Amino acid sequence: MPVDMRTFLAHVELATPVLTAAGCAGSGRELAQFFDLHRLGALVTPSVTMAPRAGRPTPRMTETPSGLLNAVGLQGPGIDAFLERDLTWLAQRGIRTIVSIGGGTVAEYSALARRLTDAPGVTAVEVNLACPNLEDRGRVFAREGGAAAEVVASVRSILRGDVPVIAKLSPDVADIVAVARACVDAGADALCMINNPLGMSIDTLTLRPALAAVTGGLSGPAILPLAVRCVWQVHEALPGVPLIGVGGVLSGSDALQLILAGACAVGVGTALFHDPYACLRIERELEDLLQARGFQRLADAVGLAHRPPGSSPRIPLEENTP
Ligand SMILES: Cc1cc2nc3c(=O)[nH]c(=O)nc-3n(C[C@H](O)[C@H](O)[C@H](O)COP(=O)(O)O)c2cc1C
Repeated sequence: MPVDMRTFLAHVELATPVLTAAGCAGSGRELAQFFDLHRLGALVTPSVTMAPRAGRPTPRMTETPSGLLNAVGLQGPGIDAFLERDLTWLAQRGIRTIVSIGGGTVAEYSALARRLTDAPGVTAVEVNLACPNLEDRGRVFAREGGAAAEVVASVRSILRGDVPVIAKLSPDVADIVAVARACVDAGADALCMINNPLGMSIDTLTLRPALAAVTGGLSGPAILPLAVRCVWQVHEALPGVPLIGVGGVLSGSDALQLILAGACAVGVGTALFHDPYACLRIERELEDLLQARGFQRLADAVGLAHRPPGSSPRIPLEENTP
């Protein structure tokens, strides 16, 4: 019996729970050389900004133990070229697309939302809150519940009601539940976590920081436990809110950890840099693991690790095991 892998992000049904992570799969064309993008739960675009951005100076990527540090700086073509070139390409092919947006002010996020309101092919909008707030000394929106909520409320008030707003959170906060709650209270339909925690590496030959920007975002297997912890804490506090778990997923087993912690979908980022087929492989491995444990539906595994120690799972595993 195949496992029913369908999942819901608010009212939007996804055929599979495995998505790309923002900024790690281009805008679709690159991955489409390898497989049919309809096989993804959804493609999440890089965060699009109002104006084109060249990104940060190089070097802007460096490997770390079990991870990658990046300081790309939201390089991108800007919303006009994105709508005309990238989103049109995705919409013409009917690929489920979650558009990520990034801004330096609440007004910029609002302007982006207005540009996306009537754009065809937008399945959901993911609000990248890990951007510096230019009106508050560059403190990133995601670090402060009030600022994050202001962005989410403004985007939510502009987009059509049938387009879910997903707030993407940073783990670099004292209390991720407080920021999550502020975003949900402001109208977020779902949450995505985690964006890259800030890290730094020093080149011992040049005796200088390895990245031109000095600090960068850490990704890859090193951050999986951080992502599992954030998903766990937020699901515990807000069990009805759909969560996308992202961070260090390389295998179906990694994805299953995030699902058991409370995620109903999983994003794959850094793994794509060495394996463009990673999303398909991870989905297959996840389905095999669920099947081997007697699950008939992915939905039955979401948050299951929260049951009290010693209690039996909500589903009769042994009866379903082939
Ligand atoms: C090169 C690179 C670019 C990224 N660009 C974005 C982006 O544009 N918007 C965003 O919200 N997150 C961005 N991220 C963060 C990822 O979407 C993801 O949250 C993070 O890398 C953790 O997942 P991973 O360990 O599977 O890569 C980027 C990450 C990397 C490595």
